[in-house]
Amino acid sequence: MQALQVWKTIGQAQAGCAALKQAGKRIGVVPTMGALHDGHLSLVRGSLAQCDATVVTIFVNPTQFGPGEDLSRYPQTWDQDLAALSELGVDAVFAPTVEEMYADGTTFVEPPAISKPLEGVHRPGHFRGVATIVLKLFHAVPADAAYFGQKDYQQAMVVSRMVQDLNCPIEMNVLPIVRDADGLALSSRNAYLTPADRQRALALHQTLRDAKNRIEQGCRDGEEISEGMLSSLSDCVDSVEYALLADPATLDPISAFPKTISAVIGLIAVYVGKTRLIDNEIIHVPS
Ligand code: PAF
Repeated sequence: MQALQVWKTIGQAQAGCAALKQAGKRIGVVPTMGALHDGHLSLVRGSLAQCDATVVTIFVNPTQFGPGEDLSRYPQTWDQDLAALSELGVDAVFAPTVEEMYADGTTFVEPPAISKPLEGVHRPGHFRGVATIVLKLFHAVPADAAYFGQKDYQQAMVVSRMVQDLNCPIEMNVLPIVRDADGLALSSRNAYLTPADRQRALALHQTLRDAKNRIEQGCRDGEEISEGMLSSLSDCVDSVEYALLADPATLDPISAFPKTISAVIGLIAVYVGKTRLIDNEIIHVPS
């Protein structure tokens, strides 16, 4: 196995990818902000299985954090991240500085309409920062395939739409959420949770399960299910930003289920203590 390369500059990344392409390799890229957990590593494994070379980007992107968000305390676990990636057989890590990625650049991507609801309401500017950095990362690491997690469902939709609209020559892959044994979706932000808060955070997955059960038992009143989600979460967490059933293709809230709908998505964003957590589940609607 070849040693893991660490690229710090865009020039190094572009030259490194050119050499991999020259050698006829299909490249997969996994964009991350570091503090890697098994969810990230499942994306890495997806890329390793489908591509000849895998590049992981580690960059805590300041432009996707709003004022008062956790940019300054975002967890950083560089040595562990590198050890885990090296053990999996990743080819290279691209870990630029903020100056390298932004210099004094003022050009931003205007994200598509799908960025407007949900996260777009509660984190204004977030997807402008995400779309911009992802496009810049795709230029620095011109890979054949990209791997994102379903946990950030709306982000995956925004990036997929951007890839389509801006003709990015990259295949998008969105892989399933990875959960702890008790159902908590893996997130770098789980590191902020006290043991008591972590216990309360189990309400997210439980609420999604309850919604799924109601649909499987025949309930087709989307508003009633969404209200139930909101109310059961409100009993457990500190605040609920949203909790609802939506159309997985448009993110429009579901009230009455259209006859043709085969799946809905439950989407949640809450605060447990000072930690903002999101979760979702695609629920197949029995016909
Ligand atoms: O999902 C993330 O970790 C980030 O939003 C991403 C895609 C790496 C862009 O900074």
